[in-house]
Amino acid sequence: SLPHTFNEKVPLAIIGGTGLYKLDSLTPVAKLTIATPWGHPSSPITISKTETGMPIAFLARHGQTHNLLPSDVPNQANIAALKSIGVKIIIAFSAVGSLQEHIKPRDFVIPNQIIDRTKGIRKSTFFEKGFVAHAGFGDPFDNKIGKIISDTCTDILVNENGIKDGLHKLHTKSNDNGDDLTLICMEGPAFSTRAESKLYKSWGGSVINMSCVPESKLAREAEISYQMICMSTDYDAWREDAEPVTVETVVGNLKSNSKNAHLFSEHLIKVLEPLILNGEIGNDLTGSMKMSVSTSS
Ligand code: ADE
Repeated sequence: SLPHTFNEKVPLAIIGGTGLYKLDSLTPVAKLTIATPWGHPSSPITISKTETGMPIAFLARHGQTHNLLPSDVPNQANIAALKSIGVKIIIAFSAVGSLQEHIKPRDFVIPNQIIDRTKGIRKSTFFEKGFVAHAGFGDPFDNKIGKIISDTCTDILVNENGIKDGLHKLHTKSNDNGDDLTLICMEGPAFSTRAESKLYKSWGGSVINMSCVPESKLAREAEISYQMICMSTDYDAWREDAEPVTVETVVGNLKSNSKNAHLFSEHLIKVLEPLILNGEIGNDLTGSMKMSVSTSS
């Protein structure tokens, strides 16, 4: 019985992936059902407020009861709905498989690159029907926010007993010797074959999911700063000495990741809030699409 309207602008949104279906630490103040020209989002959007009063939106990517496959997520509606309430920054959580030995299940990864292996069946632009525009996507994530996360969130993850013993690591470009952390986005819903998994590894892939494209691309077109936070659940299928990934492995590790996802988002919201309020983050893409429209006249 929360209000269905909310009149303030909401600068920050969290998109929850598998294992993160709401924000436990914040008290909801409204639940919005938003219709967009691209249909309805995956779930109603819950608005909560921080202790100091900044509103935050939460959207469950796969629906609140996890009823949407990756290929069926209404990404255009999700991003358009967030844009319509004033969102300038999206922090998106996602479960991923690891393509690298040193990225262990239950580690977290802040990727800075993407290789798109979705199969062209997802609607991945707002620019259709004769309207031509080209968004820059060379750096698909907001590297400023990536660096802030790297600088402030390395000491958050706990073990199964709730203790910070350093077992579960946060991998970021600056933590990992400046090496790119590349997220492969595949179509699904079946996982990769061993051969595909090894191919992605040979390309320099760090982690793999089914969710960052076109979500990140549409955010770019909407001039919304976007960073994904990946929660590793498995070693995919590349290891000769292990069974290829199963949904049981993913779900098992997700349950342990869920506590860390909540801790991580709580801490990150505290870190980002002052930077949002003083305009330091969330404005870098403002006006960027204006110059990307090309017309023949
Ligand atoms: N999500 C979690 N684990 C995954 C994997 N191995 N491949 C694709 N998406 C995933």
